Amino acid sequence: MQRGKFITLEGGEGAGKSTNVAWLADYLREQGKDVLVTREPGGTEVSEAIRNVLLSPELPAMHPDTELLLMFAARNEHLRKKILPALEQGMWVICDRFTDATYAYQGYGRNIPLQRIAELEQWVQGDLRPDYVILFDLDVTTGMARAQARGRADRFEQEHAAFFERIRNGYQQRAQQVPSRYPIVDAAQPLGPVRMQLQQIINRILTGMGQE
Ligand code: TMP
Repeated sequence: MQRGKFITLEGGEGAGKSTNVAWLADYLREQGKDVLVTREPGGTEVSEAIRNVLLSPELPAMHPDTELLLMFAARNEHLRKKILPALEQGMWVICDRFTDATYAYQGYGRNIPLQRIAELEQWVQGDLRPDYVILFDLDVTTGMARAQARGRADRFEQEHAAFFERIRNGYQQRAQQVPSRYPIVDAAQPLGPVRMQLQQIINRILTGMGQE
C-alpha cells in the first residue's frame, strides 16, 4: 500500500483556509483519492479538548511555553490516533494548520526560539513532515477585518496587528526556504480566483510536478 500524501493549509487569520478545505477535499475525491480532512489544534476528542483550552478567551493568559507544549500535546495525540493511520492506509490527509503554524505563531509571533520548536517537532513527529504546505498569504489589515466579521474573537484573534505581521513574515520566510514544498495562494483575491489557484496547485501535485 502506497502511503498517502500529507497536505497542510496555512496562513494568518481570515485568509480563507477553512472556507476552501472542504472544496479541496471534494476536488481530490473527484480525482479518485481517498481523503481525510482534519485540523489543528484538534482533530481527535482529546485534541479538541486541548484546543478549547488554547483558544478560550475566558481563561487567563498562559505562558508561551505552556501554549507551545499544549500545541504539541494536541499534535501528538492527533498524529498517532488519526493522521499516521490514515496515511498508512493510503489516504490523502488534508490538515487545516500543522507545525508551520507553531513556527509562525509561537516562534515568530511569541518569540520562542525556533530551535526549541524544532526539538519538539523532531520528538513528536520523527521524520514526518507535510509533503506540501499550501500557504494562504494575505495582508494583515484585510485578514483581521475578515476575522472580525466572523464574530466573537478567540484568544489568538484578540492579538494586535504587530503579532500578525510577525506571523505573516514567519510564514513567508519558511516558504522562501523551500518554495517547491510551499505553494502560495494570493488570498486577497475573491473566492473564484482563489479556487482557480488552488486547483492549479493540486493539479501540479497530482501530476507529480509539485516536487522539484
Ligand atoms: P484556526 O483559527 O485556523 O482554527 O486556528 C486556531 C488558532 O490556533 C489560530 O489562531 C492559530 C493558532 N495556532 C497556533 O498558534 N499554533 C499552532 O501550532 C496551531 C496549529 C494553531
